[in-house]
Amino acid sequence: MNSLDLGTALSLTYAWIKAAHVIFVIFWIAGLFLLPRYYIYHQEAPAGSPEEKKWIEREAKLRNIIITPAMLLVWTFGLILASTIGAWSQGWFHVKLLLVVLLSGYHGYMVSYGKKLARGERPASGKALRIMNEIPGIATALIVILVIVKPF
Ligand code: HEM
Repeated sequence: MNSLDLGTALSLTYAWIKAAHVIFVIFWIAGLFLLPRYYIYHQEAPAGSPEEKKWIEREAKLRNIIITPAMLLVWTFGLILASTIGAWSQGWFHVKLLLVVLLSGYHGYMVSYGKKLARGERPASGKALRIMNEIPGIATALIVILVIVKPF
């Protein structure tokens, strides 16, 4: 393989990894949009009712099958991309990383909130959950601007 072929192969691999990154970003964020919605409906169901049991199952499935694996894959592919292009020294990447760390914290909070709900606790009001539900949308808008426009 001469150097031109190697370059082409590397950039193709990079493109595939980026595609995988964005696919799992979509799964992760879609799940993060949905999970607090489920919690809102869950909290409207009477405690101990069969309806509440169904919400507990749906929430656990969404967390364990979609959002947690998707988050881990987004991180894995994202860190590979960052190492490949040497993003560590770029301003946009520092801010993106900070936002993604905060979003991962939000993810962790929402996972632990679901476990509390399953134990019969209801720590936040429906209104508070609706307000928190705005966080992934705002984070996504800022992250996409940073990664595409790269303003600094
Ligand atoms: C979890 C940690 C993450 C890391 C380490 C990371 C890192 C990266 C890197 C280095 C790139 C390549 C940029 C380029 O080729 O110019 C990239 C692309 C991208 N990332 Fe992430 N990312 C992460 C999470 C996210 C999240 C949460 C979102 C959206 C909410 C996101 C959205 C995107 C998009 C849309 C692209 C493609 C941009 C393009 O077309 O060049 N990433 N990511």
